[in-house]
Amino acid sequence: MAKMINIALPKGRLGEKAYKVFSEAGYKCPEIEESNRKLIFENEETGVRYFWAKPSDVAIYVERGAADVGIVGKDILLEYAPDVYELIDLGIGKCRMAVAGIKNKRPSTDSVLRVATKFPNIAKEYYASLGRDIDIIKLNGSIEIAPLLKMSDVIVDIVETGTTLKENNLEPYESIVEISARMIANKASFKFKQTEIETMIEKVKSALAQRS
Ligand code: PRP
Repeated sequence: MAKMINIALPKGRLGEKAYKVFSEAGYKCPEIEESNRKLIFENEETGVRYFWAKPSDVAIYVERGAADVGIVGKDILLEYAPDVYELIDLGIGKCRMAVAGIKNKRPSTDSVLRVATKFPNIAKEYYASLGRDIDIIKLNGSIEIAPLLKMSDVIVDIVETGTTLKENNLEPYESIVEISARMIANKASFKFKQTEIETMIEKVKSALAQRS
């Protein structure tokens, strides 16, 4: 009998888009489409159990094997470097990691740069590659406020449409890396549920191909 696959989805818009890809691939779970506050949904017929996790926690569930597979932004993989397999680029949730700051007011290069971010590891690695000394200010959200209040010189954050920057008199200075959603798998699950996961990869890939 086919083994059930546990799938961690990031709660929110990206997770809904990812579920759509999986349902097009044949992994429907009608219950998840009803709006309610349940967090775990199962469909024995298609052999899947979905659950909604906080986006930054998806990789933790997968790394620890609570989920066999999960959908996570490349930003999370770069920041936390979880010990998981990265299987497919879903091509959804596209955005970029960028350095941004006050419009037309680039900070001088001779002092230590104060960098506010939710992604300290990505920021450290980027500035290390440039040989630039920085002072990291770790925040958990609404990063754009930091340069406005002169707490930081720049931010390292996700830019999608650019609207948040624009509406706060900020502008992107440099791009660091392109981001999109990835399907990841737990390493042990990949061995023990190999047939099921490989079938899933093929079906998801062909669902994505149908779209383009
Ligand atoms: C992200 C990011 C920016 C915004 C960028 O924030 O941190 O604030 O989206 O999108 P835009 O370029 O389309 O305006 P998120 O909504 O994840 O919330 P956060 O402030 O808690 O990080």
